[in-house]
Amino acid sequence: MDRIRITGGAPLNGVIPISGAKNAALPLMIASLLTREPLELHNVPRLADVQLLLRILGNHGVDAAIAGKRPGQTQETGQTIRLTAASIIDTTAPYELVSRMRASFWVLAPLVARMGHARVSLPGGCAIGTRPVDLLIMAMEKLGAKVTIEGGYVVAEAPAGGLRGAHITFPKVTVGGTHTALMGAVLAQGETVIDNAAREPEVADLAACLAAMGAKIEGAGESRIVVQGVGSLGGASHSVVPDRIETGTYAMAVAMTGGDVLLEGARPELLQAALDVLAQTGAEITATNAGVRVRRNGGGINPVDVTTEPFPGFPTDLQAQLMALLTRARGTSRIRETIFENRFMHVQELARLGARIRLDGDVAWIDGVERLTGAPVMATDLRASVSLVIAALAADGETTVNRVYHLDRGFEALEAKLGRCGAQVQRISGD
Ligand code: EPZ
Repeated sequence: MDRIRITGGAPLNGVIPISGAKNAALPLMIASLLTREPLELHNVPRLADVQLLLRILGNHGVDAAIAGKRPGQTQETGQTIRLTAASIIDTTAPYELVSRMRASFWVLAPLVARMGHARVSLPGGCAIGTRPVDLLIMAMEKLGAKVTIEGGYVVAEAPAGGLRGAHITFPKVTVGGTHTALMGAVLAQGETVIDNAAREPEVADLAACLAAMGAKIEGAGESRIVVQGVGSLGGASHSVVPDRIETGTYAMAVAMTGGDVLLEGARPELLQAALDVLAQTGAEITATNAGVRVRRNGGGINPVDVTTEPFPGFPTDLQAQLMALLTRARGTSRIRETIFENRFMHVQELARLGARIRLDGDVAWIDGVERLTGAPVMATDLRASVSLVIAALAADGETTVNRVYHLDRGFEALEAKLGRCGAQVQRISGD
């Protein structure tokens, strides 16, 4: 298994290009199941999760063509993938594949919408919490599907004549639930109203792509979305929105090490709450035509009090990275995690680097320390892993981050992007 070795202490200076968002690319790729015509996606990040989803879609009969390199493109320029689901030959998503990536459960809605039935493995537990799918199933039932659980699989059947428009009110904001409701509703008969919908930019990006395919959607990005079902969808060409979590992660890395970095292609409005928090910690944030510039020169890190919330609040997917930054603040910070109940797995590993963090239910108290010191660490999920990278960049000496496959799931060319800005980061190939 590969490891990453980081020697801390160097400030970050330069330019980091921001990739397309993993969490937008995945549902966009899944939307290809809704049409027999090609869906061309640009700016798709080169990530292990994208590769795995290509395999899963291939199993349903989706052909994928990845465009070769074009003049001016670099390793970090996103790829163009053309997905064609001319015919769906298998409506089962097996346990072996779904258990490796939860988002693949989202194939349920487009398969039922287009084929009238689907059999999708329940994804099972996950390092950041129990993560049920009851609200996704509720959305499908509201649209008229009959859903049963058989042998660990969700089996869904559309009524004769297909899914029907409905009023779906989510009792809790859910990104996957909103993706599911949208992908089910676009081909349903009549009108669907989705209330308390997730307002995350990745939902708006999926809706924009569905609209380009011919869907009729109003209000995406707001908490009420209204969909008028259409008989069929066509092909489209769509570019994946920049990754707000990757943007926030590198912004926190710069705030941690000090320096001056342009996050090229980043869109500040996608993570305003996180940028506001970073400014409170003492980082200088400037929106430019080219992206977001982050600077911290001299001056310490101020402590903050932050609660994770659905968009437009502070995202849970940046909670671990913020905690890493606050380990070196001048005073005590407080972070409350309200989205996932078990998302503090990074705390023990940060402690191995010398961080002082106390947990009290869903609240973490972080007492800033003068210095962190390098150590071997590992993490159980993607965002926790990258929080260890951020801490390591400012720690004295050498840190080895094990289980790098978590990072490869969600961060494109991490070592190259950090390395070019002066960080000493090296991948060590596994035994
Ligand atoms: C998406 O997960 C993201 N994943 C997550 O990013 C992100 O943390 C999360 O949204 C919240 O922003 C992808 O986009 C692939 P939810 P999702 O449904 O859709 C509860 C990462 O690191 N809930 O919005 O699975 C759930 O337990 C990942 O990139 C139910 O109770 O999250 C949670 O408390 C990790 N029943 C809350 O809702 C359900 O049926 C929000 O979850 C569904 C969810």
